[in-house]
Amino acid sequence: MKYISSLRMKAIDTNCSYLGLSPLQLMENAGAAIAQSVKEKLGSGKVLFVAGRGNNGGDAFVAARHLAGIPGYIVRVILLGKDRDIGTEEAYHNYSLLKFSRVQTLEIRDSGQLAVSELFSEADLLVDAIFGTGVKGNIKEPESTAIDLINNEGKAGKIIIAVDVPSGLDPDRGNFEKAVYADLTVTFHRMKAGLLDEQAKEYTGTIKVAEIGVCADAEHYTGPGDLQMLKKRKLEAHKGNAGRILVIGGGPYSGAPALAALAALRAGADLVTVAVPESVAGIVASYSPDLIVRKLFSSVLCPEDLSILPDLINSHDVVVMGMGLGRATETLETVRKLLPFCRKAVLDADALAALSGTLFETLAGNCEIIVTPHAGEFARLRDMETPDSPETREKAVREFAAEKGVVTLLKGKVDIISDGKQTLLNRTGNPGMTVGGTGDVLAGITGSLFSRNPAFLAAACAAYINGAAGDLAFEKAGNALLATDVIGKISEIIKEAGI
Ligand code: APR
Repeated sequence: MKYISSLRMKAIDTNCSYLGLSPLQLMENAGAAIAQSVKEKLGSGKVLFVAGRGNNGGDAFVAARHLAGIPGYIVRVILLGKDRDIGTEEAYHNYSLLKFSRVQTLEIRDSGQLAVSELFSEADLLVDAIFGTGVKGNIKEPESTAIDLINNEGKAGKIIIAVDVPSGLDPDRGNFEKAVYADLTVTFHRMKAGLLDEQAKEYTGTIKVAEIGVCADAEHYTGPGDLQMLKKRKLEAHKGNAGRILVIGGGPYSGAPALAALAALRAGADLVTVAVPESVAGIVASYSPDLIVRKLFSSVLCPEDLSILPDLINSHDVVVMGMGLGRATETLETVRKLLPFCRKAVLDADALAALSGTLFETLAGNCEIIVTPHAGEFARLRDMETPDSPETREKAVREFAAEKGVVTLLKGKVDIISDGKQTLLNRTGNPGMTVGGTGDVLAGITGSLFSRNPAFLAAACAAYINGAAGDLAFEKAGNALLATDVIGKISEIIKEAGI
């Protein structure tokens, strides 16, 4: 069965908002789904909503308003707190509407007062909306007493409906200290992993997955919500915690490795070392004082470099390799020999030319790889034309990723990112980005994110950031934009996302 984590659900909510579907509308749809379930369980009578101060409570306020308009229902809401304690704008908005909706509301912060409330015993059906996916740590008061009171009524034969997850249950792992025993759990959009946990079964009752009108693209295309899933930088972080990246490139070219390295720095990496052939080391160093440049031996990457690179690889979290290396036989051979020393690698441009099908197999399990080919490079990797139609292209990327065990980011007007199981599309970016160097920038961003995050998430978010930074640059430069303009805008995306 397909299920999602609470973090992914939050990301999808944010992506909906980015696409123009407001959180208020999603709450409205969730509340309507709850009201519908109440109607199916109880034709008329007294319904008590027990609501917490988060969005789970907000869903309940909407449901209460919907039901109160139907003759035969007497609707009451207990808010566990005061109205000023309500934590979100949307929940507060819907709570305010209850004043005009023939819903009796009661605000109770005190567990003693809650325990003597007769509203529980008077109800025919109780809706548990204390918390959903936002529950954290030990359950405090008055929430703990509220859970007990709902469970007492359940034991007495009343119908209990839980909103999204029974309060107290961890939505991802299912473990809990105490939780509501529900007859029916109405969860939104998709099944949550915690609900399927063996232990959770007796708490959830029947599980209904309610459609709340999420835009399909919010789930299938990257958006700002995906960036929320990336690890945040810790306040007490030390130098190096945010990633040490080694860029191996250059020789025939000097700009490409520098672009990747500068992009990696802008995308948040703490330390970026650029290892380049001696012939271009001085040039690369002259581009920026932010770069640490390590001089290799010759005018192209060559077997002699194997005497220093393994140690350097070892002292970095991720290797980003390929930009501007050229395709000399000795260079490609050296790339192949370096791969077994890498734990995490982003392979781009000329490094892709060094790969053969069997190489992936020999590396399996030792090195996590992200490849970032364009259509031509992807064709060479597969020894087959890259399909034009979006569906066949997506299928080809998914199958390649699954077969080779590498996260694949196929660059294009729409980027396709897959690990063989999950696939995301990215449509940030613009025609100005066909200029040389934007692929190097993407490889650098990918390496930076990969140092602290799972490969698939890193690749998908890197595609989004690269395109979004390019879109900001495009506002000023239009089709005259340069890869360095894109680098200059990465910080705005990173800052906005708080990563
Ligand atoms: N003890 C007491 N209160 C807690 C605890 C705890 N252990 N953990 C969290 N809370 C409180 C928070 O202070 C906050 O007021 O619960 C509230 C948040 O809970 P949720 O409503 O579950 O979180 P939120 O992220 O706002 O909403 C997620 O919204 O999309 C809907 O129903 C859907 O489950 C989803 C919910």
